[in-house]
Amino acid sequence: MRVFIKKGHIGSLKIDAVIAMIYEGEGISGMAPAMPGKCKKWIHGILRSSGFEGKLYQTLLLYPRNLIASPRVLLVGIGKKKDLSLDKIRGAFSRAAQHLNAVKCRSIGASIEFAPSGFAASSSEITEVLIEGAILGLYQFDRFKTVDKDKGVKIKKLYIVHERTDCLPDIRAGAASAEAVTWAVVFARDLVSMPSNEMTPRILAGEARQMAMARGIGFRELNEKQMKKYGMDALLGVARGSDEEARLMILNYRGTAGSKRPVVLVGKGLTFDSGGISLKPAEKMDEMKSDMAGGAAVLGAIQAAADLRLPVNIVGIVPATENLPSGHAYKPGDILKSMSGQTIEVLNTDAEGRLILADALTFACRYKPAAIIDLATLTGACIVALGDNVIGMMGTDSALKEIMRHVGDMTGERVWELPLWDDYEEQIKSTIADWKNSGGRPAGAITAGMFLSKFVLSYPWIHLDIAGPAWLDKDKPYIPKGASGVGVRLLVAFLKKWVQQDQSLK
Ligand code: BES
Ligand code: MN
Ligand code: ZN
Repeated sequence: MRVFIKKGHIGSLKIDAVIAMIYEGEGISGMAPAMPGKCKKWIHGILRSSGFEGKLYQTLLLYPRNLIASPRVLLVGIGKKKDLSLDKIRGAFSRAAQHLNAVKCRSIGASIEFAPSGFAASSSEITEVLIEGAILGLYQFDRFKTVDKDKGVKIKKLYIVHERTDCLPDIRAGAASAEAVTWAVVFARDLVSMPSNEMTPRILAGEARQMAMARGIGFRELNEKQMKKYGMDALLGVARGSDEEARLMILNYRGTAGSKRPVVLVGKGLTFDSGGISLKPAEKMDEMKSDMAGGAAVLGAIQAAADLRLPVNIVGIVPATENLPSGHAYKPGDILKSMSGQTIEVLNTDAEGRLILADALTFACRYKPAAIIDLATLTGACIVALGDNVIGMMGTDSALKEIMRHVGDMTGERVWELPLWDDYEEQIKSTIADWKNSGGRPAGAITAGMFLSKFVLSYPWIHLDIAGPAWLDKDKPYIPKGASGVGVRLLVAFLKKWVQQDQSLK
């Protein structure tokens, strides 16, 4: 889909359908002023007889004949004016795009002038969420479909119009930014959706390399022999059960002076997690192809940062392997020596994410980072604690956490903090090694975070447990079920805020 920004009038767009947002209980008075009066009047009559109330995500398709240039108007409910949020606009626009796609429209358009005067968002922000809603809501993963091919996305063009020329530069900027970010989310979703036989550590590294090369981003990958040299025996321990060779990807995006310390992003890249010898139950094990969603989010965020030319240095580190049972596999009771020198007793081979992250985090410290952020589908316990819609956040730096909370609310990828109090350390102390890789069931998300904290030295650090929102069992307004691409928009918004704060300190 391509996005076009046009000066003009929604009523004179010659396209397949225009979208009109309707507030609950406001009739046509809340509609974009740009809609021609006679068409508004006609809609007013229909609103009274149709039962369409403007409830959030309600849609009604109308055929206004010659009242406007387009043959269709889709009314979409956006709920009560006072409850308006950016996330509701994303959802409403996504639902509208999905409806119009289902009736085979190829070109759609909307005006951004529907926000009430008190609503604290710029035209560029509203443009962004409209584009995010449309692209993300229309996402389909159909690479492996040979029948039903015709169900693919029909909408090819999205028009956003505004009547005032002086508003267009802002809207264009918003659109460019939204496109870079949403295509990065699509990239991450595609990587996560790919089945593990088609997305091995080697293939994932190939995709990362290609993405990096196309943008002049530095790229390196370590194979197992090179990891061995660094002493990454925790990562290699997990990798032993698999016949696919592990990889550690290192991306280096330079957006500003080389002397500036980088933000290091670390993403868990388990291309498949069977649990290993501590085998998972068969039910839903297929979903564990998504256990590299943290890695995908890191790759997506770096892609977007490069496309947006964000003035910040970013290092991305993605350790990738499979966790499988076999005659070579690591076993419960094994003791592994991590790159940091600390030893780990393996109580459960299914707690593999923290093992590969331990070495990746130690590696991250070599860059003397300004901040380390790791993303991982780390624990089922995080889903038990917060549900499948929320990211669990832990970390050592309150300023970083504050930014993360803020951008979580802005992007709809919300985070909620869990404590890392000293008391939890008891649960991961081992009698015969330094640490155990499992702290048992109580506070499972926290003890996993506590474990990771042992590998970040004293660098400012945030851990994001995305086990819940990375993979959805059912559709959300602008996230079709399956891979969500969660983390990409959050990280990009975080990096933008980071840049702003950095510049305000100068
Ligand atoms: N990848 C899983 C966590 C997970 C579970 C993510 C469900 C998404 C959905 C992780 O490697 C894992 O297996 N964690 C264990 C840890 C336990 C053995 C301490 C868990 O959560 O059960
Ligand atoms: Mn596991
Ligand atoms: Zn896992």
